[in-house]
Amino acid sequence: MKEYEYGMIGLGTMGRNLLLNMSDKGYGVAGFDKSSPQVEQLKKEKEERNILATSNLNEFVNALKTPRVIILLVPAGKIVDEVIQELQPLLSDNDLLMDCGNSHFTDTNTRSEQLVNSGIYFMGVGVSGGESGARNGPSIMPGGPKEVYTRVAPMLEAISAKVKTEPCVTWLGPGSAGHYVKMVHNGIEYGLMQLISEAYHLLKVVGGMNNDELHTVFSKWNEGILRSFLIEITADIFAQKDELTSNSLIDMILDSAHQKGTGGWTSEDAMELQVPIPVIDLAVSMRNLSAYKKEREVAQQKMQNPKSKLETDKKKLLSLLEHALYFSMLTTYTQGMSLLYYASKEYKYDLKLQNIAKIWRGGCIIRASILDDIYNAFSQQPDLSNILLNDSIALKVMQLQTEIRKVIQTGVETGIPLPAMMGSLAYYDSYRSGWLPANLIQAQRDCFGAHTYERNDREGTFHTHWNQEKN
Ligand code: 6PG
Repeated sequence: MKEYEYGMIGLGTMGRNLLLNMSDKGYGVAGFDKSSPQVEQLKKEKEERNILATSNLNEFVNALKTPRVIILLVPAGKIVDEVIQELQPLLSDNDLLMDCGNSHFTDTNTRSEQLVNSGIYFMGVGVSGGESGARNGPSIMPGGPKEVYTRVAPMLEAISAKVKTEPCVTWLGPGSAGHYVKMVHNGIEYGLMQLISEAYHLLKVVGGMNNDELHTVFSKWNEGILRSFLIEITADIFAQKDELTSNSLIDMILDSAHQKGTGGWTSEDAMELQVPIPVIDLAVSMRNLSAYKKEREVAQQKMQNPKSKLETDKKKLLSLLEHALYFSMLTTYTQGMSLLYYASKEYKYDLKLQNIAKIWRGGCIIRASILDDIYNAFSQQPDLSNILLNDSIALKVMQLQTEIRKVIQTGVETGIPLPAMMGSLAYYDSYRSGWLPANLIQAQRDCFGAHTYERNDREGTFHTHWNQEKN
């Protein structure tokens, strides 16, 4: 009976495709889902393969070789706890559960602690790449006990994406390290998507480009410094026709973005740790703002665009924008990586940022040639708190600052919102400022609330009885 090496709970798009990917690599896999249509779908797709598809949990558990390895690919949140609760009485000592969904890292900590006390191992594993990644090779971000990782490493390496021949998976750290890294991956994903959308806005409205031209621009960009999965799919999106009308599909999609929340989680934790990640914060805010469609429409009637219309040379705009996007994308990865650096210290993950850049180069949504530069920076300086401190990255962004300033100027003068680009430039300008006006903030705090301040000429904390003290 115990003939399958791996079990998969959750046969939705991600679970089914990951299971088929494992089967392609020669592993015997049993799949379980409560929903019969999902089980039937897998039965249809499995053809002659060594796959069990069932909606009977006992049959599923008994079909697995022991100690068992069971992957959970179910929606994040309370469903994960419900599945674990049902499963736990059927498990034995040393069985391993791998949660491959987008669980919040604090939930992963709680579940690991609870399960380990009852002899069950638990790993939180980030998986990125969507449907096609799951089927053909995702980027995999595993965290949890290192000694159990070795049990699954060969399988994860086999099913992951490869860059050249290197697998896009490696053990990242203990506890919730894998889910934390995946959360930040998604935060960066939000930032990059917002930046690309801002470029689209400018090209469409100021550049006056139609969807065919936009398709050509993004395709060309994908052959240069911006080469990445998100630029590639953006080019494809502009070429997609609507099945219901003869229009481009992009023009038929409501401009109100949804979210499952992982970008917001990244911002929340960055605020908690006091690590600045403004591009990601702005991307989350802009998704939120986009949802206020009705209010925006009313506001549009009340407040018009500035009168000035810039004369724009399309060719020049394109070149400026390509460089501005590179600048702002690079500073978005910078912010995500810097959050990982400080979170690693706080949560004792001991993350190797070089490895993270390495496994993000293939399979995941944020894969991009920029990651080669980031990987090189961390290879030279593994303990870099911020990649803008790397000489070659610093030189690169410095050389591109003129372009992003011009692009932002165009946005400001024409009333096109470019918040993420502005956030990225403001981050750069602030980070490279040896002096910031925070002395005034300290003075104000001390003036109205006796919060004290530090001086730049001697040690200690000071309070002044300000002349203008109001409280
Ligand atoms: C991935 C994606 C994946 C999913 C996001 C969507 O890496 O494969 O990030 O996890 O597409 O969760 O997130 P939102 O619904 O929040 O946009």
